[in-house]
Amino acid sequence: MGYVISTVNMKGGVGKTTLTVNLATSLAKNFNKKVLVLDLDAQISATLSLLAPHEFGKLRKKRKTLSYLIDGVIQPNPYAKLDIHDLISPSICGLSQLELLPGDIELYDEYLVSEMLHQKAVNENKIEHFDSVWNNFERLLIRDILEPIVNDYDFIIMDCAPGYNLLTRSAIAASDFYLLPARPEPLSLVGIQLLERRVKKLKGSHQDDDPLKLQLLGIVFILSEGGLFGRYDKYYDQVKRRVKQDFTIDQMFATDIPMDVNVAKAVDLFMPAVLTSPNSNGSKAFLKLTEEFLGKINGFEQNQQ
Ligand SMILES: Nc1ncnc2c1ncn2[C@@H]1O[C@H](COP(=O)(O)OP(=O)(O)OP(=O)(O)O)[C@@H](O)[C@H]1O
Ligand SMILES: [Mg+2]
Repeated sequence: MGYVISTVNMKGGVGKTTLTVNLATSLAKNFNKKVLVLDLDAQISATLSLLAPHEFGKLRKKRKTLSYLIDGVIQPNPYAKLDIHDLISPSICGLSQLELLPGDIELYDEYLVSEMLHQKAVNENKIEHFDSVWNNFERLLIRDILEPIVNDYDFIIMDCAPGYNLLTRSAIAASDFYLLPARPEPLSLVGIQLLERRVKKLKGSHQDDDPLKLQLLGIVFILSEGGLFGRYDKYYDQVKRRVKQDFTIDQMFATDIPMDVNVAKAVDLFMPAVLTSPNSNGSKAFLKLTEEFLGKINGFEQNQQ
């Protein structure tokens, strides 16, 4: 069975995309796992971290991006010819186990979504329960898109946009687990708490039907410059201690990701650092994190037996 995982934090620039692409690549390259990356952010950072812009341009011209599937839900077209299998780019970065469903700079139009859902509520005589029509749509949008392929992969990892938009909510609702990359800084901690509150609310709003399976796989700390034996170490420890008051040790990753210029530079080569500079400190940390990730998944599997 394939695990669906979303990488999410309402705060921007904390390392969601970097974590998504390096973890996915490391799972494929070092652990022979079959992995799909799904880019749910209109900034298309995950797509452009794995694919050269001209390659993306070619795919977009052929409409081979996620927006084709979302359009198919919002404005169904009986003549639509492509399905999800046609949209997935295989052998990303030369790895036969790594695939990508590219994102798009135009993913959906909120006005069209509202209009479609309003019409649906009117047709089904549910206008006074519009919130449940909306909830149901959010719950199923990403889940239905992934349904035909979910068992083709060991892991599907979705890179979410900052904030808490429709696709992020839908991705979380469709996930078995979510990863929460964060900087060990006070404002980032507020972001973690806000997200946790929203996830709780989302779970609450789906309690009656089929409850969400979703669990926090772990918080991953992405250090800022000066961390890892640098001058911020004591400060980070203090901030982390605060997080430990709210979360169990199982809900945190022991491996921190240090700032490493090789990680940032890799984007220029359209490949994650774990491929372009596998011996760098950043890549070594991602490898260790991937081992920890697999250990956590293993732990969940054993608990279920
Ligand atoms: N470990 C690291 N070492 C060096 N640079 C990093 C590291 N992690 C992330 N960065 C850089 O920090 C910036 C933000 O990272 P990233 O794009 O992954 O964050 P994000 O949370 O996905 O941002 P957004 O909210 O805009 O989607 C990028 O320029 C990235 O290259
Ligand atoms: Mg991002």
